[in-house]
Amino acid sequence: MPPTPTKERTPRAEKGHPSGDPRFQLIDRTLKRLQYQQDALIEVLHTAQEAFGFLAEDLLIYIARQLKLPLSWVYGVATFYHFFSLKPQGEHNCIVCMGTACYVKRAAEIVAALQAEFGVEAGHTTPDGKFTLLTARCLGSCGLAPVLVLDGEVLARETPESTVSKVRARLAGAAATNGHGASVAQPALQEVEAV
Ligand code: FES
Repeated sequence: MPPTPTKERTPRAEKGHPSGDPRFQLIDRTLKRLQYQQDALIEVLHTAQEAFGFLAEDLLIYIARQLKLPLSWVYGVATFYHFFSLKPQGEHNCIVCMGTACYVKRAAEIVAALQAEFGVEAGHTTPDGKFTLLTARCLGSCGLAPVLVLDGEVLARETPESTVSKVRARLAGAAATNGHGASVAQPALQEVEAV
């Protein structure tokens, strides 16, 4: 976990983003609701990512200024947590947990199978923008290993074959209904801390 910066809790009235992009109003509302507290950074980043799909530099600069935090700190938090993305995501995305419990249950084979099948390295998006493959350290559901998150849906006890099948079906526009994995309730990812 990065070090905690000096806290500043003084509520401030700030001007909105000069672009006039209405998505910034969502961020402004979150900032206001949380009284511009620096502790609110992660929640504000979540709002920003939901609104824009990823955290572009301009967005991080804006948030850093509004919270009066060093940009380096905001970058540090945004890159520390795997559920934040600094790059545009594909139309579909799959996060494969590579934590210890998942690793010993073939998570690396799942990643290798996805890389081979869809021609994309972990951390990247296919050239057609359809699919992003990501890895995470621990998604907090080790008892269900190996765990992956496909388009926000948490899947448990997958195999390389079942994963490829489900991703292929997703890209074809239909969710796979069979395979070895069992869908489980989606955890509040904002509460899952990468370790
Ligand atoms: S190691 Fe994968 S969920 Fe914990």
